Amino acid sequence: MTATIAILSSQVADQIAAGEVVERPASVVKELIENALDAGAGAIRIEIEDGGKSLIRVSDDGAGMSRPDAELALSRHATSKIREAADLIGVATFGFRGEALPAIASVSRFELETSSDGDVATRLRVTGGKREGVDDAVRQRGTTVTVRGLFFNTPARRKFLRAQATETRAAVEAVTLLALTRPDVAFTLTSDDRPLIDVRPTTRPIDRVHALWGRELADTLLPIAYREGPLEVRGFAQRPAQAKPAGRKGYVFVRGRPIRDPFIVRAAEAGYRSTIAPGDRPSLLLFLELPGDAVDLNVHPSKLEVRFRDKFFVEKVVEQAVRAALGPLTAAAPLGGVGGQGLGVGAAWAGFGGTMPAGGAQELFPTDPLTPSTPPLAPLLQVFDTYIVFQTDSGVAIVDQHSAHERVLYERAMRQLTGDGAPAQRLLLPLTLEFTASELEAIDAHRELLRRVGYEVEPFSGRAVVVHTAPNPHPRFDAARCFGELVADLARGRFGGLANRLERFAATYACRAAVKAGQRLEPDEMRELVARLLTATLPAHDVHGRPTVVQLPKDELERRFGRT
Ligand SMILES: Nc1ncnc2c1ncn2[C@@H]1O[C@H](COP(=O)(O)OP(=O)(O)OP(=O)(O)O)[C@@H](O)[C@H]1O
Ligand SMILES: [Mg+2]
Repeated sequence: MTATIAILSSQVADQIAAGEVVERPASVVKELIENALDAGAGAIRIEIEDGGKSLIRVSDDGAGMSRPDAELALSRHATSKIREAADLIGVATFGFRGEALPAIASVSRFELETSSDGDVATRLRVTGGKREGVDDAVRQRGTTVTVRGLFFNTPARRKFLRAQATETRAAVEAVTLLALTRPDVAFTLTSDDRPLIDVRPTTRPIDRVHALWGRELADTLLPIAYREGPLEVRGFAQRPAQAKPAGRKGYVFVRGRPIRDPFIVRAAEAGYRSTIAPGDRPSLLLFLELPGDAVDLNVHPSKLEVRFRDKFFVEKVVEQAVRAALGPLTAAAPLGGVGGQGLGVGAAWAGFGGTMPAGGAQELFPTDPLTPSTPPLAPLLQVFDTYIVFQTDSGVAIVDQHSAHERVLYERAMRQLTGDGAPAQRLLLPLTLEFTASELEAIDAHRELLRRVGYEVEPFSGRAVVVHTAPNPHPRFDAARCFGELVADLARGRFGGLANRLERFAATYACRAAVKAGQRLEPDEMRELVARLLTATLPAHDVHGRPTVVQLPKDELERRFGRT
């Protein structure tokens, strides 16, 4: 048998910044799982004891190694995965440095058992870097690596290991990350014989999220599928209304590898602009795919940081990808037990590994299930003088009239503020209104913005101003009351959470100008409002982080009435 592992030239070795591979049990777990994945494993079993401090064992059903390969694998810079420095650009496998196994074996009681043919196996033992012996063994195809007494021979480093619970948590996290990138592979993790992770292979990433974190989180996630130029962004973004200030899950993967990049997370959060309550942190799972020459994955020894050739482009596309995910009305929260399924979110989601539909997220939703079934709009019903109920292709939609109108007016105001301004309506009887000193200051500071949404204002005398023109957002609009509330909000800096001044102003105006809850609407007004909502850019979310629409999926009705 010939060895398929080659020793890297020292030159190549030098080009690879050697770093500390082994920091703690979790890093051993990570390296061993990555090796198993590189070997094409379909199922990976991880066992740890005492947080991995006394034992870490990773078994796989991958390709295994021949005896010469197994022996070579334990020499530094032995790797089957890269031959030339040029290969470093765009390495597709996890491993390439050929230093993980020797590094781990140098600080533990290490045992490797492997078979490439499912019959003859090799067992290799190394203690603190010293080769102990090679035995024959019998086993199925695949590899098992057992690491006992990590850092037993480097007491200074062993002392740095944390409490069992902390190390266990880190190991769980390491397994979770890799399990997220490979829904097609089965993972089990047991800690002191307690099963902590047990996920079966699946083709649907949402099922993997569900298996790892439960339905409660999985059901709040919207699929991301977006591409621009060489960059493809997939994953999940939490519905704005379901985001919470604490405890979010935020993960970024580049070419299948978990990375830490606060800028990308921030860019994704920017995609939530005007849909989320200040302080809420949405859960995010982002999988970025881009060609090898557009990103350097190897700047960090534990591969946690990457360097993008065009960072601004990546941030811009990530923001757009999230925005596109929140965009369709299908992003509205469903009612009932089946959660996201009623919207076809999971079903429509092809999987991270599949090819991307050209045209991005839109094609995931070929028919927008919230589009009212037939034009003209199906009958609309107002309930509690607050909600508008109507039938859609896939169920019943319930719109909050105030939130929905607020969203519509917000988007319109943003266009007016950045464009030509609103067609204002000259008042037959100009309004004369009195304000406090700070309110007068706010009027002064926002005079131009007020004009653009339709309010032309002039100082009168003392604390009074005259309003000559007003916007006309709906028939029941009370121009004086809206102006008063708007000015009061501006004076006390409401919507401070929004990024820029225009957005803050637009949100404040939209909130005050929109129809209120408790106002009876005529059928025409309802139809107009729903029609406008359906053409909004982010129809499903208002500017406070609340939904504008909830959907009762037809499936759910059928389930409840036993029709399925
Ligand atoms: N579970 C496994 N199944 C099959 N082959 C393996 C397995 N683990 C390691 N190997 C072989 O041993 C070699 C050395 O592994 P090691 O992890 O030390 O280096 P690497 O994965 O090539 O690079 P890195 O240091 O970046 O992880 C691998 O290139 C691979 O050929
Ligand atoms: Mg490796």
